[in-house]
Amino acid sequence: MPGPVKVAARADIPPGGKLLAEVDGRAIAVLRVGDDFYAIDDVCTHDGGPLAEGELRGCEIRCPRHGARFDVRDGRALSFPAVEPVPTHRVEIRGDDVLVHVDD
Ligand code: FES
Repeated sequence: MPGPVKVAARADIPPGGKLLAEVDGRAIAVLRVGDDFYAIDDVCTHDGGPLAEGELRGCEIRCPRHGARFDVRDGRALSFPAVEPVPTHRVEIRGDDVLVHVDD
């Protein structure tokens, strides 16, 4: 499997910001909370809503389709109608680059 993939420069995503990236053909929402970066699948576990288009408030992202909320740090579903966690991916900061690992 390929190694981590650069998805952005740190400055591309301000605190509280988000970005939609594609890594190995997979849509990934990259989110910044303060100085920490997180990556989750851009697919809501309720009905496939595009999470990167949702509202990010603190560590929570709200699905724009039916309003389920997820914790971006560990993918936990925090509210109905979603009950399953969304897959998360390890983010690595290398210099000014934001890299995402999708295979571990
Ligand atoms: S698709 Fe996300 S809450 Fe329904």
